[in-house]
Amino acid sequence: MTRGSLLVDHIGELVTNDGRDGDPLGVRRDAALLVEDGEVAWTGPARHAPAADRRIDAGGAAVLPGFVDSHAHLVFAGDRAAEFAARMAGERYTGGGIRTTVGATRAASDDDLRATVGRLRAEMLRQGTTTVEIKSGYGLNVADEARSLRIAAEFTGDTTFLGAHVVPAEYADRPDDYVGLVCGPMLAAAAPYARWIDVFCERGAFDADHARAILACGQAAGLGVRLHANQLGPGPGVRLGVELGAASVDHCTHLTDADVDALAGSETVATLLPGAEFSTRSPYPDARRLLDAGVTVALATDCNPGSSYTSSMPFCVALAVREMRMTPAEAVWAATAGGAAALRRTDVGRLTPGARADLMILDAPSHLHLAYRPGVPLIRQVLHNGVPR
Ligand code: NIG
Ligand code: FE
Repeated sequence: MTRGSLLVDHIGELVTNDGRDGDPLGVRRDAALLVEDGEVAWTGPARHAPAADRRIDAGGAAVLPGFVDSHAHLVFAGDRAAEFAARMAGERYTGGGIRTTVGATRAASDDDLRATVGRLRAEMLRQGTTTVEIKSGYGLNVADEARSLRIAAEFTGDTTFLGAHVVPAEYADRPDDYVGLVCGPMLAAAAPYARWIDVFCERGAFDADHARAILACGQAAGLGVRLHANQLGPGPGVRLGVELGAASVDHCTHLTDADVDALAGSETVATLLPGAEFSTRSPYPDARRLLDAGVTVALATDCNPGSSYTSSMPFCVALAVREMRMTPAEAVWAATAGGAAALRRTDVGRLTPGARADLMILDAPSHLHLAYRPGVPLIRQVLHNGVPR
């Protein structure tokens, strides 16, 4: 970390996410922001900016908190471009391709896996993502789940054990035994490297009983709960997540009124992953219904080689606005503060004193441009822990 103070000056629009005055984005005009020791030390009107050792002139541009991508599967090998092409020609997505990636991942070296995570992490940073969650889930045996998490932990503190992604081929006719493996030796090997546990609770993956058993073991081992739920069809995942106090239930594409009510009365965040609907040509989740019910919504990429091979949070923001009836402000909040809430983090996703100095300077005058100018590289500069990248 670079010591000394750094002033980001001439900010045309500063998104603080401080939630003051009924504006969730907490927008300040003609602002400045002081960084000290990797943290935000002060924000206020540019004309009151304190002196600092170094200065970045934002030139009237917008400055936002770095994106918090709370759902990504970065530890894998191989690609499934042919599967994507088949879907674009009319095939349905079933999750069956996960086993293809498991085969390639098991065959890869540690250095190959590390290089892939590093490449995608760098791609993310260039697009404004300063916090990322990384899941295992393409190892599906004790050694490969543990090494996936060991490698993920080199890049983030928000690592998630997803040994219950699907039942691997060698356990196809004895899923109970696989659940025993996940709860026993696999969890024991994974837990030292994991903060969270996740289960793909879906027809064809894990049912509610198996998911409950696995998540309870993870909780007993000190891991926080998150869940892949209601992605491909209606099901028990969302309500199970709420019942277990999950930090987040992710996908939420097929919800009943009871699911929405359960979320609305809970602390559980609904994380929407529009890259998955884009890449599987599926109907998008109804963000408006969740927001109108008072549910906290996050946006994330779901970056993975099968259902959503994008690392771009700006792309997800644009999809959420265009296809999911979120306002630009709601989408930007969901991609920053929402992601932080989904990871139960209070140090990121906002630009207020004490927060980590994770921010992006746009090549644009306001956050609106992230959706208004889709596909355009608008991230001029990123500061991560106060360090220009
Ligand atoms: O979040 N739904 C389960 N897991 C991933 C897809 C993984 C894959 O297809 O490789 C998802 O969409
Ligand atoms: Fe996922």
